[in-house]
Amino acid sequence: MKQFFITCALTAAAMSGAVSAVNITIDCGPAGVGFNICKAGAERWAKKSGNTVTPYETPNSSNDHLGIIQQQLAAKSGDIDVYQLDIIWPGLIGQHMVDLSTKIPAADLALHFKGIVEADRFDGKLVAMPWFTDAGLLYYRTDLLKKYGYSKAPATWAELATMAKKIQDGEQKTTKSFTGFVFQGKSYEGLTCDALEWIKSFGGGTIVDSSGKITINNPQAAKALDTAASWVKTISPAGVTTYQEEEARGIFQSGNAAFMRNWPYAWSLGQGKDSKIAGKIGLAPLPSGGGGAAATLGGWNLGVNKYGKNIDASIDLVRYMTGPEEQKIRAIEGSFQPTVMSLYKDKDVLAKNPFYASLLDVFTAAVPRPSAATKTKYNQVSQDFGNAVSSVLTGRAKGADAVKQLAADLARVKGAAW
Ligand code: GLC
Repeated sequence: MKQFFITCALTAAAMSGAVSAVNITIDCGPAGVGFNICKAGAERWAKKSGNTVTPYETPNSSNDHLGIIQQQLAAKSGDIDVYQLDIIWPGLIGQHMVDLSTKIPAADLALHFKGIVEADRFDGKLVAMPWFTDAGLLYYRTDLLKKYGYSKAPATWAELATMAKKIQDGEQKTTKSFTGFVFQGKSYEGLTCDALEWIKSFGGGTIVDSSGKITINNPQAAKALDTAASWVKTISPAGVTTYQEEEARGIFQSGNAAFMRNWPYAWSLGQGKDSKIAGKIGLAPLPSGGGGAAATLGGWNLGVNKYGKNIDASIDLVRYMTGPEEQKIRAIEGSFQPTVMSLYKDKDVLAKNPFYASLLDVFTAAVPRPSAATKTKYNQVSQDFGNAVSSVLTGRAKGADAVKQLAADLARVKGAAW
């Protein structure tokens, strides 16, 4: 009898089209403004759809974030329904994601930069939807450049070193801890991004090229690393070899650095009420080492855990979060760079982020890390690269020896094929 009533109730619900509300857990990244903006967006979806959401907080660094996710997915856990995936992860965790290729309408996909949609494909599957994109930028203090007689941002790394030194020497007379240039010097994924920019901008390639060939052992790559090592303890503090994005931003935003390499998110925070330098920040392409300026392509994407219990609702949340309405809010509130192309012409978005227009070339030409070429071995490649770069930055090796050794190590990681 009981069974009969349950069946009738279910049939009635199905016939009326009513779907019972579910709770979706979404990975909203590390604590901070980004987490809060993600949470607010997910809550807007919950309100619209009649469901509920639980935001899930992760560690700060992309590497630690990946480590936790890999553990959860290896155990086939369905606890987190929607994951955010770094642009380099489709090959690393894509097999655990729902294939969205038949679930997301073509018209939705057509709104986004094609290259980013392509980066979200792995093994014939669309494993995530573009959420925001990233590219390395040079932040500088407009007031200090003016004070020391400079009319524009440095175009070359040599110019940056000269300018940073002059400003640092001048400012240290009153602020002992003032420094010329901060960047991501700790051995982790962020250093891979910074060092790829140095090497590419010296004409030294991309570690592994798109055909899978290991290209890192070349004089330009070595020169780029030696140049970066020359900054440590001259225009950058010794501690730079332990900095991630947030350490660099903390120093720059408190007014204690002339230049910083960081992603676009630091723009909005730099204009915020906790910032000592609001209204004094300039943005420019990163300098060139002779091979042309280069910015590493970063960014985050949303994928649906295939072990989750509420796949349809999760897909709906992903569609909403990655859609134009939500990406617009995220660009305005957090300078998270849209992947929806039309937002680069949106007046409200541009009013808050004028650099979206002036630096559009930087974003469209951003250089991908070799994750597509090295597939499931990318993480090992990046770690070996980070360790090699770190050995040069900390004075344990010279550039030429480090890239030679790295090429041999990567050949072992590659084996017969990636
Ligand atoms: C940013 C980028 C991401 C990169 C990470 C490195 O979050 O968007 O792609 O891997 O920084 O720290």
